[in-house]
Amino acid sequence: MEDMEEMKEKRTVLVTGNAGYIGTVMTGYLRDRSYKVYGLDTCYFSNDLLYPVPEGSRPDRQAVKDIRDVCAADLEGVDAVVHLAALSNDPLGEINPGLTEEVNFRSTIRLAGLCKDAGVKRFIFASSCSIYGISGTDAPVDEKGKLNPVTAYAKAKVQAEEGLSKLAGADFHPVFMRNATVYGLSPRLRLDLVVNNLLAWAYLTKEVAIMSDGKPWRPILHIEDFCAAFAAALEAPEDRVHNEAFNVGQDSENYRVKDIAAEVQKAVPGSEVRILNKTGADERSYKVDFSKINRVLPEFRPRWDLKAGIGQLLEAYAGYGLTREGFDSERYFRIRAIRSLMKEGKVDNNLKITGGKR
Ligand SMILES: NC(=O)c1ccc[n+]([C@@H]2O[C@H](COP(=O)([O-])OP(=O)(O)OC[C@H]3O[C@@H](n4cnc5c(N)ncnc54)[C@H](O)[C@@H]3O)[C@@H](O)[C@H]2O)c1
Repeated sequence: MEDMEEMKEKRTVLVTGNAGYIGTVMTGYLRDRSYKVYGLDTCYFSNDLLYPVPEGSRPDRQAVKDIRDVCAADLEGVDAVVHLAALSNDPLGEINPGLTEEVNFRSTIRLAGLCKDAGVKRFIFASSCSIYGISGTDAPVDEKGKLNPVTAYAKAKVQAEEGLSKLAGADFHPVFMRNATVYGLSPRLRLDLVVNNLLAWAYLTKEVAIMSDGKPWRPILHIEDFCAAFAAALEAPEDRVHNEAFNVGQDSENYRVKDIAAEVQKAVPGSEVRILNKTGADERSYKVDFSKINRVLPEFRPRWDLKAGIGQLLEAYAGYGLTREGFDSERYFRIRAIRSLMKEGKVDNNLKITGGKR
């Protein structure tokens, strides 16, 4: 039986953005499911670690490469693509406004074209619930709901979905995973995400600081559940996922930011919530309907909720010794890390790598 398993040829997945927050966990997740993983990443954040990347989360092959320079040779031996590489939050787009469109939209479509030419049919795209923007209602929005992207990041995700959809056909099956805001542990931790951020600050200062008025809806998704959803999309029969969009999350994990803060406050003894109500705070607010993924991809069984995720993160912050100095450094904040790379001359104004492997 074991021999049979070994004889089964391993499927190879190209994971772009494999050296990021989610990509690092995705690589381990897919390797655990017996996939061979090829990674492609500029590796902007490869040294921004909370703890060393375990052997099992390293790809079988790594291309340190810009997605803008991807070519047919990068797809040799590849059976499917998980496309995560992106400028992953809005402040990054402010460095050079055209960049988000170039990296997140145009390069996605070019990569998809190369996939079609190479016969790589399945293409799982990391889209985002932030394409619903300011939904203007407390009613949960489903995949047919109105898109209202309010940031360059979200607009590029919409453009990419539309462009990929045009390429869909018998020889190409794009799947659009509209992920909720992710939280949870990764060796390449990000603290610019709502749960990770509120909890880290509370852990370090006993203050749960909400920048907005706390009312925006923000559905959240544990990083391992993100990976589980992608695995389900990779493995489902093609007629179930071909050219389909899925909101990725759970109905029960739609929170207002102030409700997330309340859970954080409960978990950090002696902490207090402060609502700062700053102008210019993130205005996105969307409550999301996640019933489609449950219905169409029942193989996806989310295992985490906010409370469990907070427990996991708190243990890691304490266990790996997260410090105030670390929080204030560039390590866990994408915009600071990129600015630092620019200052050191390791990337140019277009965020192209100039040398000095990260
Ligand atoms: N984190 C979330 O809450 C969330 C929610 C919804 C969707 N997503 C999407 O999931 C994906 C991964 O997000 P993440 O949180 O891991 O972000 P991340 O910033 O940690 O990782 C992105 C990776 O892409 C790489 N990258 C950036 N530009 C590149 C380029 N031009 N060429 C090659 N590699 C490049 C970076 O080096 C990094 O390793 C992104 O597409 C993001 O939009 C994330």
